[in-house]
Amino acid sequence: MQVIITGAASGIGRASALRLGRRMKVVVADRNIEGARQVAGEIEAAGGVALGVEVDVTRRASVAAMVASARKAFGPVDALFANAGVNRRNPVDQISESDWDLMMDTHVKGVFLCCQAVLGEMVERGKGAIVNTSSDFAIMGVAGNATYTSAKTAIYSLTKAIATEFTPKGIRVNAIGPGPIDTPLLASGRNDEQHAALKQKFAAALPLGRMGQPEDVAFVVDFLLSERASYISGQILHPNGGQLMW
Ligand SMILES: NC(=O)c1ccc[n+]([C@@H]2O[C@H](COP(=O)([O-])OP(=O)(O)OC[C@H]3O[C@@H](n4cnc5c(N)ncnc54)[C@H](O)[C@@H]3O)[C@@H](O)[C@H]2O)c1
Repeated sequence: MQVIITGAASGIGRASALRLGRRMKVVVADRNIEGARQVAGEIEAAGGVALGVEVDVTRRASVAAMVASARKAFGPVDALFANAGVNRRNPVDQISESDWDLMMDTHVKGVFLCCQAVLGEMVERGKGAIVNTSSDFAIMGVAGNATYTSAKTAIYSLTKAIATEFTPKGIRVNAIGPGPIDTPLLASGRNDEQHAALKQKFAAALPLGRMGQPEDVAFVVDFLLSERASYISGQILHPNGGQLMW
């Protein structure tokens, strides 16, 4: 069994790669190839099988090359975790066109290209499982982050569209909507003081009383890609500390 994970060099993708590496061959894909190779090495050191692959999910040719490498190394792709992401925070009146394009390309186009690249073979085999990374913000909305929230809402919608078309062909397609998870993405664009203050604020405000860790999300991804979730498709699951009760 093989899974491709994008954004797997860091944070949620890395934790999911390490967890899924216990039961699947893992293609650890990221634009950060050094990081991807390092995570693949960690999986192998723990007794698993993995391959680090460089990918830019915003480019169709790069995504196609990633999937070709996966097939060459491990055969058919059984599962995809389309998870790569970035963040840019700005009030709406200060969003640049390049930031808008970066967010839409990385999140929406990236998920679209990765799903499209594996769906054909999954249809031929009559089976497959996909998880896309959306966010609590897809549903809540949040000030100062309109590019990100818009992209994440589009991923939720895209996930439902793909699930509607492909669930009857044997492919389960779901999304996750994490709350605040302690990863480099949450720290990006913030200095150490701002980052520490934000973590304190979340810990105090979240109903479960703590920030999420990447492993809290990895459990959910593992579940959704497993047979235990064989009756679940077209859903968004929220590992979020109770931030959004939906
Ligand atoms: N951390 C949170 O609080 C949180 C909450 C909800 C959703 N998310 C989402 O979870 C996903 C993972 O984020 P994370 O928090 O683990 O962040 P992270 O920064 O730790 O990891 C993101 C990874 O994506 C990779 N990446 C970015 N652009 C890419 C591209 N074009 N092609 C290939 N790889 C690319 C980065 O190199 C990085 O390794 C993202 O989609 C993010 O939006 C995060």
